[in-house]
Amino acid sequence: MMTRAVYPGSFDPITNGHEDIIRRAAGIFDELVVAVLNNSSKNPLFTVEEKLDMINEIVGDLGNVEVKAFDGLLVDFVHKENAGVIVRGMRAVTDFEYELQWAQTNRVVSPDLDTVFLTTNLKYSYLSSSVVKEIARYHGDISQFVNPCIIDRITGKFSAGR
Ligand code: PNS
Repeated sequence: MMTRAVYPGSFDPITNGHEDIIRRAAGIFDELVVAVLNNSSKNPLFTVEEKLDMINEIVGDLGNVEVKAFDGLLVDFVHKENAGVIVRGMRAVTDFEYELQWAQTNRVVSPDLDTVFLTTNLKYSYLSSSVVKEIARYHGDISQFVNPCIIDRITGKFSAGR
């Protein structure tokens, strides 16, 4: 049986921590859909199209990974994709309560779905898209946090004249 999994997130922008989870999940599951939340109320820095482009560029080498946008409920998207597993990264205990609540809620709503947590590479356990944006906003060096091919796109969002 093929296992198809969905790795959802805001990816505003994709970090090295996200990339690590995608690469590991792609090795565990037969097929992986990276699902980018399309939710304007979160006031994202990047458009969904920009996020899809960046993720595709970074993990486009993985043959069993697709990158798609979604809106509405995650469980509805997972069903539509004929997937059975939701993948989330767990960085620290501070992620735990929020993740547990949603994993349990999603299971009550959709008992056919399971959430699988991958513990983040220790190298990236402090890392978040918010940290990347905060450092880029003040023109700090983000080269340790994101893939080199998207650095200019991030710093460009904070350069003068925009
Ligand atoms: O990267 P994030 O911001 O932690 O990802 C959160 C995300 C996108 C997984 C979550 O907000 C989501 O699934 N939103 C869609 C609406 C929904 O189904 N919410 C409940 C499940 S978490």
